[in-house]
Amino acid sequence: MKVLILGSGGREHALALAVKRNPEVETLYVAPGNPGIGEIATLAPLDIADHAAVAAFARTQGIDFVIVGPEAPLVAGIVDDLARVGVKAFGPSRAAAQLEGSKGYTKQLCAEANIPTARWGRFRMYEAALAYVRANGAPIVVKADGLAAGKGVIVAETLAEAEAALKRVFDGEFGAAGSSVVIEEKLVGEEASFFALCDGERAVALGSAQDHKRAYDGDQGPNTGGMGAYSPAPVMTPEMEARVMDEIVRPALVGMAARGAPFVGVLFAGLMIGPEGPKLIEFNTRFGDPETQVLLPRIEDDLLELLIAAAEGRLSEEPVKLSPETALTVVMAAKGYPEAPEKGSGIHGLDKAGALAGVVVTHAGTAKKGGRLVASGGRVLNVTAVGTSAAEAQKRAYEAVKQIEAPGLFYRRDIGWRAIARG
Ligand code: AMP
Ligand code: GLY
Repeated sequence: MKVLILGSGGREHALALAVKRNPEVETLYVAPGNPGIGEIATLAPLDIADHAAVAAFARTQGIDFVIVGPEAPLVAGIVDDLARVGVKAFGPSRAAAQLEGSKGYTKQLCAEANIPTARWGRFRMYEAALAYVRANGAPIVVKADGLAAGKGVIVAETLAEAEAALKRVFDGEFGAAGSSVVIEEKLVGEEASFFALCDGERAVALGSAQDHKRAYDGDQGPNTGGMGAYSPAPVMTPEMEARVMDEIVRPALVGMAARGAPFVGVLFAGLMIGPEGPKLIEFNTRFGDPETQVLLPRIEDDLLELLIAAAEGRLSEEPVKLSPETALTVVMAAKGYPEAPEKGSGIHGLDKAGALAGVVVTHAGTAKKGGRLVASGGRVLNVTAVGTSAAEAQKRAYEAVKQIEAPGLFYRRDIGWRAIARG
């Protein structure tokens, strides 16, 4: 079988490692990939925003199955565009990817399907938005409606902050994503991410994870794509997972089918677990990054088989076998991330780090320059370790981080603190 993965981050490196475990895979292509992925797969230098180029490549190479990593091509309809030329792909259609592409769309679905979520309003006009904020008071959450790479959310603790946030959205700081604004009640509780594999009708749990969104230790500093994660998230007990499947995932599948946009792919629920139970913060319609780096090492069933079954609408509702171990990943990012990451600094010692027991190093923003490995983007490396507890996985991951000589990178030193504090 020939498989093509689209994307170039740590998520896609982790996907590539998992897909390679299937003995039926004769060739694995990753487009555009990165130097780390290039060690285990064939890189295809494609612009994945160019759907015609991806479709032509898939046709000429005889690709049997495409796995789409990031959200942008999904929201732009790459799965539909590939289907049109007879290429099977894993991920939601353009219509179903609206669950991630538009916060207002998801909020509407929550209302129709009775999915627990924060109270909200959506506004196209500044004056109406301002009136809503003033009527509801702070704390309150202001969000650009469209895709804003995780940066379009402002949790305002005071009315002044909320009003400033509205100005930023309506002044065009988030571009087209901010042509309308969603304003929400601030939820309280503990955040967790939950992943379900869906075939349009059925869903199975792939596990839970906890991300660390802030750049610096102690959850300080600006929001990022994610500075580290672990799986499972202790707050997601078996009982809580069952509630999330029944109260959030399955109603969403029924609602999407009723809208004529059955959801096929990974439904990634960002949750707040509070006193009344789980509430939905947002859906993503893909694997998370860095959550995938900690989910996949725990999946004991064949990932590729599961993804193909989902794409073909024949998912079994047998629970996916998950290892009881904890996986934890530390993101090493270029100094200056997220605002202005420095490029070009050297990276050494990955072999030493990867040789430690239970450790895997995946690449994100790396490049080869004159035979040297250098940083080329915001998040550069993920150092992932598996252990019998969060504390053990954390210890192993940081031991591996210490083996890496990369003076141009920084990382958080407290990934996993919440799980470890629970004991
Ligand atoms: P989102 O991009 O919607 O996931 O939001 C980014 C982050 O903002 C979330 O991970 C939460 O930490 C926070 N957030 C978003 N919406 C809410 C809410 N209604 N209440 C509390 N925190 C929120
Ligand atoms: N780590 C958050 C995300 O992938 O959206």
